[in-house]
Amino acid sequence: MPKRVQGSMKICIIGAGFVGLATGVTLGKQGHEVVFSDIDPGRVKSVNSGILPFFEPPLEKELKALVRKGKLTATTDSVGAVSASKFVFVCVQTPSLPSGRIDTRPVKSACNSIAKALRASNDYKVVVMKSTVVPSTTDSLVLPIIEKGSGKSAGKDFGLCMNPEFLQEGSALRDSMEPSRIVIGSLDKRSGDMLESLYKKMKSPLLRTDIRSAEMTKYASNTFLATKISYSNEVANMCERFGIDSEPVLKAVGMDPRIGPLFLRPGVGFGGSCLPKDVRALRDRARLDGYNSRLLSTLLAMNDEQPQEAIRLLEKAIGDIGSKRIAVLGLAFKGGVDDVRETRALPLITHLLAKRARVVAFDPMAIPNFIRLMPTIEYASSAAECLKGADGCIVQADWPQFKKIGKREISSMRQRVIIDGRRCLNPAAVRRAGARYLGIGYGLQEKD
Ligand code: UDX
Ligand code: UDX
Repeated sequence: MPKRVQGSMKICIIGAGFVGLATGVTLGKQGHEVVFSDIDPGRVKSVNSGILPFFEPPLEKELKALVRKGKLTATTDSVGAVSASKFVFVCVQTPSLPSGRIDTRPVKSACNSIAKALRASNDYKVVVMKSTVVPSTTDSLVLPIIEKGSGKSAGKDFGLCMNPEFLQEGSALRDSMEPSRIVIGSLDKRSGDMLESLYKKMKSPLLRTDIRSAEMTKYASNTFLATKISYSNEVANMCERFGIDSEPVLKAVGMDPRIGPLFLRPGVGFGGSCLPKDVRALRDRARLDGYNSRLLSTLLAMNDEQPQEAIRLLEKAIGDIGSKRIAVLGLAFKGGVDDVRETRALPLITHLLAKRARVVAFDPMAIPNFIRLMPTIEYASSAAECLKGADGCIVQADWPQFKKIGKREISSMRQRVIIDGRRCLNPAAVRRAGARYLGIGYGLQEKD
């Protein structure tokens, strides 16, 4: 293990978003001094008060404690923050452009700040790309911007690493403190060694690679997860038509150690800030080199269509949904978070509205974010209120509290039909509460 990093280090995190805050809190907890830089003054103020700009309670608790101890601060002055630090983590967002390509403008802007700070410094700093970028972005975009703007040479005057994150929302702190693996791609050995020793307190397996391999690892991982989910959806769609419950089938499939049990839950498709965007970005990147990825195109097409499976089940139960009142439970891209980026609730509700259904929606945390995407539908203040007078309900996100829906809520529905779009409810319990249960991949019609 290299021993180049001794004691507490000064660390700058550019981008106080999900990944930046989880990374900064993890390093702060390990005794380092962290400064977040963000262009959004509201976000900076919130972080300095120990308040997270999103819902992730365990992370917020640790953030608060570290801010109170003076270990974490935030600023809008990115150049100053870089100047004062030994390691600079780039954690800005890389959203999809309409073509599927990633928008690298936030990364470029972060690199310009880094270059400005390096120009006025003779200190060897390590720049670490954590933002998800397609292979060759770090060496063909990040590196030249920093070298040109600073007048310094990568590998000599400053170090450059690519260190992808694999954290899931809802368990960001745990995933960041105990990652399944740490991948360090480095341009020069010195910066790779320094980053490796920064992580010396972590027990996770660590892999050293070149920069492009590290970039590709993130895409290869996320597109595989998307494949597993889509495969489960494919099996579930067939099971439902064959009159089979997909749950024991996929459970048995997952017991094969070559396959594994996780990410085999069927539903209305994958959403979130990473999976859909990364599948699109890798497909686009492959095209640039003349490769047409049929697998990635199919994943995207399947994921587009999957919300319609829930609507098909609803129509199977209640017939034409035109002018019917349909309750949608769960607006976040998954249960337990308030994030609505690429949530499947959006295409689901859009299809329901296109069929002239009257939609009433509820989510325990995500309504303030979702209302910006869909200001005109009706929102309920509880699951019970959402179900009142409904002609059917589709569960879109696996919030644990939806399992508690019982006789009282069900009896207030006009037509007692629950479509489980995430296979997160207990079919027998729903039936005992008096509703007809249909779910993605649930084909035991004889019991209904
Ligand atoms: C992360 C990754 O970095 C992204 O590449 C990955 O694919 C998804 O996860 P995330 O942490 O979710 O992105 O981004 P977000 O929560 O949007 O936060 C990014 C932050 O960077 C925002 O607070 C934004 O204000 C800030 N930012 C953006 C800057 O400080 N400077 C910029 O120039 C642009
Ligand atoms: C994902 C990756 O898991 C993580 O490693 C990466 O760093 C960021 O992207 P996250 O966006 O938090 O994390 O969501 P994840 O838990 O992976 O779920 C993504 C979507 O897939 C959600 O819409 C979820 O409901 C869906 N999903 C997940 C399924 O439909 N079935 C499953 O079995 C698992």
